[in-house]
Amino acid sequence: EQIEKGGYDHFMLKEIYEQPSAILDTFRGRLLSNEAVIKLAGVEDNMKKFLAADRIIVVACGTSWHAGLVAEYIFEDLARIPVEVEYASEFRYRNPVITEKDIVIAISQSGETADTLAAIKLAKSKGAFVFGVCNVVGSSIARESDAGAYTHAGPEIGVASTKAFTTQITVLTLMALRLARAKGTMSSSEFRHHLIELETIPGKVEEALQSDAYVKTVADIYKDSKNCLYLGRGFNFPVALEGALKLKEISYIHAEGYPAAEMKHGPIALIDEQMPIIVIATKKGHYEKVVSNIQEIKSRKGRIIGIVTKGDVSVKELADHVIEVPETIECLTPLLTTIPLQLLSYHIAVMLNKNVDQPRNLAKSVTVE
Ligand code: AGP
Repeated sequence: EQIEKGGYDHFMLKEIYEQPSAILDTFRGRLLSNEAVIKLAGVEDNMKKFLAADRIIVVACGTSWHAGLVAEYIFEDLARIPVEVEYASEFRYRNPVITEKDIVIAISQSGETADTLAAIKLAKSKGAFVFGVCNVVGSSIARESDAGAYTHAGPEIGVASTKAFTTQITVLTLMALRLARAKGTMSSSEFRHHLIELETIPGKVEEALQSDAYVKTVADIYKDSKNCLYLGRGFNFPVALEGALKLKEISYIHAEGYPAAEMKHGPIALIDEQMPIIVIATKKGHYEKVVSNIQEIKSRKGRIIGIVTKGDVSVKELADHVIEVPETIECLTPLLTTIPLQLLSYHIAVMLNKNVDQPRNLAKSVTVE
């Protein structure tokens, strides 16, 4: 097992560090930026269906569901296709309206999650076209889908999903860009610009990983917290949910993810000098709004950890700690802001002596309903 961990103390840390190469593997043969082309066989072969679709319904569980939420923002923004994101377990039991004009995208690392598998069987029985985004080749969901795209992240052993999440977002971004081009919702120069930026992501993830030592010092300060709040807006709202899930599942600290603006509709009541609040405040999108959310937290004496764009000034003035990530275009920021959140939960769990790779009560793949 030590050999399999490749010199890392845990599979989770190894898998966090594998993300630059995992994302490159996801790109391989698909992202051809010199020719300004994206090739995804499963999309290409079914382009007519994608172009005729009324909407996309994403079904997934856990972290894969969070990747689906990021995809909702990206598909709607770039390709102007309406997207609904459903917990597979809710979707399958609530008599959903599904038609032949729907495309169902099932996202699953393992490809064996019982609820997701049942959801796609239901969708198929109603005539929907099912597209699988799986990591495990030949898995049940991959086989049951009408078409699909593998994430090619390589085996993920740690129960807490890390590289599966970022490679799922990568595949879904490639799909959204390909469809945006086909639908004409994006100009060729915008498309080219996105491809060039996407190509820089593995290097930028590598750079984001360099914050590891600093994240560890932050982890040491907050490791004894009983609660934690994660806030993000837009593309980074799902990242806040994912950050909170990572902390809960491996450190057993209660954590909530929220859209930053929802804070004043309830969670603000929780804020006191004991409460760490991790705010994703990258310099794109709703930056000014997030800064004003941070001011509200500050005036209530919450302890602020900002995830910011390199060189940020405004958040630095207000926050107790800031962790920098490189700059990129807004829709790609989740691939970078996720990294320090993974590292933070990892270090806290290690410091609390928890079983990082096999947290209590959890299984890598949930094959029961
Ligand atoms: C993630 O860290 C979790 N362990 C869990 O939420 C997981 O993402 C979920 O069970 C879905 O698994 P799947 O991607 O294999 O379908």
